[in-house]
Amino acid sequence: MAAEPGALALHEAARALAASVQPQVAAVLFVSAACTVALAALLAVLRLRPPWWCACPVCEAYLTASWAGEFDNLCDWYAHLLRASPAQTVHVHVLRNVLTANPATVDHMLRARFDNYPKGAPFSAILADFLGRGIFNVDGDAWLFQRKLAAAELASPALRAFAVRVVASELRSRLVPLLDSASREGRGRGRGRGRVLDLQDVFRRFAFDCICKISFGLDPGCLELSMPVSSFENAFDVASTLSARRATVPMQIIWRLKRFFSLGDERKLRDAVRLVDRLAEEVIRQRRKLGGVASGSDLLSRFMGSINDDKYLRDIVVSFMLAGRDTVASALTAFFLLLSDHPEVAAAIRDEVARVAGDADRLTASTFHKLKDMHYVHAALYESMRLFPPVQFDSKFAAGDDKLPDGTAVAKGTRVTYHAYAMGRMESVWGPDCGEFRPERWLRDGRFVPESPYRYPVFQGGARVCIGKELALMEMKAVIVAVVRSFDVEAIERSSRRPRFAPGLTATFAGGVPVRVRRRARESGDGPPI
Ligand code: HEM
Repeated sequence: MAAEPGALALHEAARALAASVQPQVAAVLFVSAACTVALAALLAVLRLRPPWWCACPVCEAYLTASWAGEFDNLCDWYAHLLRASPAQTVHVHVLRNVLTANPATVDHMLRARFDNYPKGAPFSAILADFLGRGIFNVDGDAWLFQRKLAAAELASPALRAFAVRVVASELRSRLVPLLDSASREGRGRGRGRGRVLDLQDVFRRFAFDCICKISFGLDPGCLELSMPVSSFENAFDVASTLSARRATVPMQIIWRLKRFFSLGDERKLRDAVRLVDRLAEEVIRQRRKLGGVASGSDLLSRFMGSINDDKYLRDIVVSFMLAGRDTVASALTAFFLLLSDHPEVAAAIRDEVARVAGDADRLTASTFHKLKDMHYVHAALYESMRLFPPVQFDSKFAAGDDKLPDGTAVAKGTRVTYHAYAMGRMESVWGPDCGEFRPERWLRDGRFVPESPYRYPVFQGGARVCIGKELALMEMKAVIVAVVRSFDVEAIERSSRRPRFAPGLTATFAGGVPVRVRRRARESGDGPPI
């Protein structure tokens, strides 16, 4: 019996549909099967406990997560282990990870034997989709080329002046009005306590606006009161969070399979990276039309003088954005959380700002010039990053066998991690009051005295020391001066004594940092604003 035309069309459509979904179904089945096999293998391994299985107390506690019974965060447990270790170095065998808080060992890996401790292939693979060949993600000649280029650009007076203009404008037209409006909200209705803000979110938006303008010459307007979170910021967030999540899966093969079949998180990561790519391509195209290197004062325009490959330009600039956003936001959030617990430090900052820059309520060109004379502000910022380093730990992979100064043997391929968070909390490094927030420890006769970067590796040290440090310090000090002299910031239901962190590439407080702000002084102003 001949089929009716309608039924035939339906049949054809069903076949087409089946053919189109076949690869996805096969992929799902394959990945499920692979995961099942991996799980079965893992279970078998767990039951059999083969010779390489490690039953030492540290590995047992790690594998069973029993540390979580006593500590809120993995970094607190590691700090505890490192304090208890005579060498200030601990080997987590099952992770093939040697962790250290020993300044001599940090010096060894970052400076003396820098050649033996590159970032390595495992790290590059995890961030490759997002960062490509950007400075963060490469070793050897590719790294050295970008390092020289970027260090020269960041040190140039023109870029520094541009960065000051960007930060001043973001403060004057966005951050201060936002805090002001939050402090006014609720007043006159009998409460007088102001709207609750998530300070972490505010600083992330602030820092993203600044670093986008400095890197690309592009203003995403994330801190604009009327604007929703930009899709670009969102994509950037998703890409960095999901890239970091790759590092937490027990076996690389899992994310690699999901990536191959574009499933779950890997699909979201791919889409987010595509959005970042599209925007970067568009900005680069526009810049080229406007005359490339002559088109602006931002980093992208300046790099265009030396690099023609647009994909390479994209990778370099995206690395800068990653480096410059979350670190600054994390440091500022922790700083104000500590200040909320230490009003005496806020009072000392106000005294210094008034002494050095006068009582005016707004930022002027001269205030920026005087930031370098604010030794107490500098000390308070360094002290806060000692307790809350934005990059809590940083790993390298040993290129060859080695012996660390503390006596630990390191086999080729081992991950070696310096733990800045633990180091800030070591009595052996900072003395018995290491847990206290005491800016005075950085001052001698009222002047800031720096520490060795191997005791305080917050900006790393050695050949790969952070090249954005001066820019970051200018930005953060400007925020501190502008906010502290005009507002009281009070953290709600959060204390610097018991932080809880969320996983990620930089230190992030789980659940944000809710605060109330209260305006302190009225706008008066002396000298022209920037
Ligand atoms: C509080 C703020 C900051 C902190 C604590 C910080 C910390 C660090 C750390 C620990 C590293 C080493 C990372 C690694 O090798 O894996 C690093 C590298 C780097 N930082 Fe920063 N950073 C900050 C702000 C910035 C800013 C604002 C920029 C850019 C404008 C920047 C640009 C870079 C770059 C390009 C590198 C790579 C250097 C290299 O590999 O040679 N950083 N930073």
